[in-house]
Amino acid sequence: MEKKIINLGIFGFGCVGQGLYEVLNKTKGINARVKKICIKHPDKHRPIDASFFTTDKNDLLNDPQIDVIVELINETDAAFDIVSTALKNGKAVVSASKKMIAENLRGLYDLQQQYHMPFLYEAACCASIPVIRNLEEYYDNDLLNAVEGICNGSTNYILTRIFEDHLDFDSALRQAQEKGFAETDPALDIEGFDPKYKICTLLLHAFGTFVTPAEVLNFGISHLNDFDINFARQRECTIKLIAKCRKLNGNVITYVLPHLIPRHHLLSDVNNEYNGILVESTFAENQFFVGKGAGGTATGCAVLSDISALTYNYRYEYKKIGQSNPLSLTNDVQLKIYLRYTSPDQVDLTHFYSISEKYESASNRYIVGTINLKKLKDAEWLKNREVNILVLD
Ligand SMILES: NC(=O)c1ccc[n+]([C@@H]2O[C@H](COP(=O)([O-])OP(=O)(O)OC[C@H]3O[C@@H](n4cnc5c(N)ncnc54)[C@H](OP(=O)(O)O)[C@@H]3O)[C@@H](O)[C@H]2O)c1
Repeated sequence: MEKKIINLGIFGFGCVGQGLYEVLNKTKGINARVKKICIKHPDKHRPIDASFFTTDKNDLLNDPQIDVIVELINETDAAFDIVSTALKNGKAVVSASKKMIAENLRGLYDLQQQYHMPFLYEAACCASIPVIRNLEEYYDNDLLNAVEGICNGSTNYILTRIFEDHLDFDSALRQAQEKGFAETDPALDIEGFDPKYKICTLLLHAFGTFVTPAEVLNFGISHLNDFDINFARQRECTIKLIAKCRKLNGNVITYVLPHLIPRHHLLSDVNNEYNGILVESTFAENQFFVGKGAGGTATGCAVLSDISALTYNYRYEYKKIGQSNPLSLTNDVQLKIYLRYTSPDQVDLTHFYSISEKYESASNRYIVGTINLKKLKDAEWLKNREVNILVLD
């Protein structure tokens, strides 16, 4: 198929925007060139010629010579405005904005159908790992059972530093920020929002189910303390923040929770800013994707792959939407968890279906028990920073 040269209008020239620029310049044979870059702060020093830059979004969105808008900014509402205007203006769009995409999945799907323009966003799930395109093209929905794993590079980096270098939480977070792995607002990573946005998007491509992030429980790693870390070490485990979507009795469960991962498990070897996604299907059984889940050039590489795919008219077909037996989200599943707290009034143990282990000392208490995901999602006590949970599979 003949490849066309495409003119790019890029929004954002931060970590990912610059990563894309670098990757684009070093990639021979890609038929794309940067026409204009829209940024927010005109006075910032830029490493490339000033003539590329503008602060007027319409210089890109209304330029008939620009074929593809690449949206790489860190503001959700502005990103949605840019992407939807571009699609309405007949431009193909590539984006890396995880939060914006997850919060607007239905609207963005409708816009693609209405304006017949492609919208690709591989970088918004596991950065450099081509998981969306595999879910779209390779996996037959009837056979797929689960998509789960580590899809936040920043928290995985923090957990690796804690477990391998015995670093404290704040120093590990600072390192992740210095290396460009963390979101501008670190709460998005450490509270588990960022992996939730990704799993909501993956759920659509895996099973054809639309969910809003508000429907999905996320609990991150910010409550983790030395007691939890020792608990994991004593059991020859590590801790990983796991995002999961899994078929269950004709429905699908989805959540983001920290898990105790045994040392022999595939995910325990996924370290630093790497992501690891396990895909489980009935006949192929388990497949494992590993790759860099954050960072300018790793993410820029996925963005470039989407740009390249546009040159041969690739678009997501969302084949699993509208299937005969659509899967609905359910939170009705029992989870075995470790719950750590300091005093009994901080938690409500009546929420537990059963308790198999109980420990009490002067400074710490924990139980291991079974609780329904719905109860966990509604539990006010989980907001207490002196309370932490880990899932034990
Ligand atoms: N960093 C990663 O590893 C990674 C991985 C996957 C996905 N992402 C996603 O990619 C996006 C960009 O992340 P980043 O790390 O590159 O962010 P960043 O380093 O903070 O850069 C953000 C860029 O967006 C520009 N900007 C902000 N608001 C704008 C607006 N209204 N109009 C035009 N430009 C605007 C900023 O302009 P100024 O330069 O003028 O301030 C800056 O260049 C985010 O949605 C993020 O979630 C990041």
